[in-house]
Amino acid sequence: MSKLFEPIKVREVEIRNRTVVSPMCMYSAEGGKLTDFHLVHLGRFALGGAGLIFVEATGVSPEGRITHGDSGLYNDEQMEPLKKIVAFVKSQGATIGIQLAHAGRKASCQRPWEGDGPITKDNMKAGEEAWQTYSSSAIPWGENWHTPKEMDEKDMEKVRQDFLAAAKRALACGFDILEMHNAHGYLLQSFLSPIANHRKDQYGGSLENRMRFPLSVAKVLRDFWPQDKPMFVRISSVDGIEGGFTIEEAVEYAKELKKLGVDVIDCSSGGQPGKMQLRTALGYQVPFAREIKHGAGIKTMAVGMIVDAHQANEIVTSDSADFVALAREALNSPDWFFHAEQELGQAPQEDPYSDWPPQYGFWLGKRKHTLDRLNAAAVK
Ligand SMILES: Cc1cc2nc3c(=O)[nH]c(=O)nc-3n(C[C@H](O)[C@H](O)[C@H](O)COP(=O)(O)O)c2cc1C
Repeated sequence: MSKLFEPIKVREVEIRNRTVVSPMCMYSAEGGKLTDFHLVHLGRFALGGAGLIFVEATGVSPEGRITHGDSGLYNDEQMEPLKKIVAFVKSQGATIGIQLAHAGRKASCQRPWEGDGPITKDNMKAGEEAWQTYSSSAIPWGENWHTPKEMDEKDMEKVRQDFLAAAKRALACGFDILEMHNAHGYLLQSFLSPIANHRKDQYGGSLENRMRFPLSVAKVLRDFWPQDKPMFVRISSVDGIEGGFTIEEAVEYAKELKKLGVDVIDCSSGGQPGKMQLRTALGYQVPFAREIKHGAGIKTMAVGMIVDAHQANEIVTSDSADFVALAREALNSPDWFFHAEQELGQAPQEDPYSDWPPQYGFWLGKRKHTLDRLNAAAVK
């Protein structure tokens, strides 16, 4: 059996295989509320055989969103479309998680296709004003970006409470898995990264100090999230910039998260400004997942330029990671998961479409039968 399609149990949640749809902002929410677009978008991956599907980075407060189009979970109204998505994804046999996020100093931004820069008076759309951003230090992310407020204890407590309130709503929506977004230059990573964090108090300087605030958020979440449900944390395994966060630090951080009861480290990278030393290539972040998995003794998820069934299977069979996540490849091919299963010879022998949703599988099985017959006749 190809390991990629073996079920995996984390705490009491059994996931049908080790493939994951990575969280992907669609910048298409309305007032933080998801729409039917998201139901179809996420539903396609459930129909396509994915094991675990993450709802995109979901702001725990209005100011924690990247753009006005981001998903949010800071009021009860935002729960209704999420409940519908959860119910549909589960009805197809997939597991569903949500990534809770605060965008920090990268907030108050335009949607990618509308400019991808900070909202200013000149580029502002009607009713979509800029807002005060927050970070570990009052340093803008880039030239002409908003200057964030350096967070004080009160701001930190508000963020902890916002994450907690969003997690309570996520649980009430029926999510199986919670992921804390601690990557890509957003708020929690701005504490870990020496590029962003220039503080002189107990939250800056040494790794122990830089970890203090994000660990306190992780603790609040893990203490609340039910014991039978897993919690993931997405980190930037390295900044990939000289003087930035390193893989050795990531291993230490993962050990601390493990002590709190975090189950899986989702190993991404980058997000801080500067000269990037890391080169994007096929599976380029897999070595981080491997190092963190073995260095900290914790389950990991690999992500980044994973496009092929054999490549994905190799990641789990070589014990580099426990989960394999796809983002853009899943957009390119929402049925990637069932096709990968077939490519690895893992689909049911009699009828390779029999584990697809019957609304598709019944017809695709017949189609295959006809194609096989036509091919055989053509050979004669
Ligand atoms: C459209 C889009 C939206 C994304 N949104 C998020 C997000 O909400 N949270 C996150 O942690 N990463 C986000 N990412 C990063 C992906 O989850 C993933 O880590 C990255 O794209 C690398 O994987 P890939 O090569 O399979 O695309 C996004 C990527 C894309 C393409």
